[in-house]
Amino acid sequence: MSAVGSVACVIGSSKIKWAYCTKARQGRTEDTKCVLVLAARTAITRLITELTQRRCNHARQTVHNLRVCASVGSGLGWRHGAGYRVHMIDNDCTIHATAQILFPELVNIYGARIGAGTRVGPFCEIQRDCVLGQDVNFQHHSYTATGTKIGDRVFVGPGVGFINDVYPSTMGPTHRHAPIVKDDVSIGAEAVIFPVTVGQGAIVGAGSVVTKDVPPWTVVVGSPARIVRTFSGHDERHAYLHGKVLDARRADHQFNDSHSMP
Ligand SMILES: CC(C)(COP(=O)(O)OP(=O)(O)OC[C@H]1O[C@@H](n2cnc3c(N)ncnc32)[C@H](O)[C@@H]1OP(=O)(O)O)[C@@H](O)C(=O)NCCC(=O)NCCS
Repeated sequence: MSAVGSVACVIGSSKIKWAYCTKARQGRTEDTKCVLVLAARTAITRLITELTQRRCNHARQTVHNLRVCASVGSGLGWRHGAGYRVHMIDNDCTIHATAQILFPELVNIYGARIGAGTRVGPFCEIQRDCVLGQDVNFQHHSYTATGTKIGDRVFVGPGVGFINDVYPSTMGPTHRHAPIVKDDVSIGAEAVIFPVTVGQGAIVGAGSVVTKDVPPWTVVVGSPARIVRTFSGHDERHAYLHGKVLDARRADHQFNDSHSMP
């Protein structure tokens, strides 16, 4: 008996005796104790193994999930199970082969569809059921909440947020629908687009908060966004932007001339 030390562990109401035995063969009493001790130790070892196994499986699954993410970049297109880089693009996305995710390791994209010729900058998040049409320029730090639909030839400046939850709280999402952006829209930096429809050809000023539908071929600015200009259609909008480009070039020349080094 003196050679047997025991440690008692109480888990809940049941008692488990945990002991160690150095002389396992010293009579029946000692044998019985040893059997109990060994049984308890085996049970605990199994429990620990099981827990460790679960943790390992979880870790393995996580690594697997990261590895099966696709590699998309520099026009290479969608490649399943690349396995050699860790990307945050889920394998349930549909990304056209000519779309460019400029920094695949620096975006979160899951369950989304991205069209031909579209470019997505770094630090963007494109959530489930979102659609980016063709030739969209989706600049860095922009975010589309679940279900956002963006048409073709849309410019999305840096840091734009498309939101679908107008009353955010810890009680859960309140959204019914997500923003819809029609073709040929331009959205300035840091704008916030509520669950509204932005009509075709509209221009949204930088930093605007768009809380209501935007009619097609208009320019809206401010918070809340208000219409400051209206175009008759594509041609007038094009002429306006073309004029702005020329103005900008002229202004650049003047700036460079007046700031040139002697
Ligand atoms: C919306 C935008 C295209 C309008 O340009 P514009 O037609 O030249 O407009 P104007 O400069 O004539 O401005 C019209 C009025 O709207 C105001 N305004 C213009 N842009 C605004 C904005 N983003 N937020 C609030 N007010 C704005 C002007 O101050 C002006 O007000 P006023 O009449 O009281 O003086 C432009 O201002 C803009 O925001 N561009 C987005 C730039 C951007 O984010 N680029 C991203 C790539 S880096």
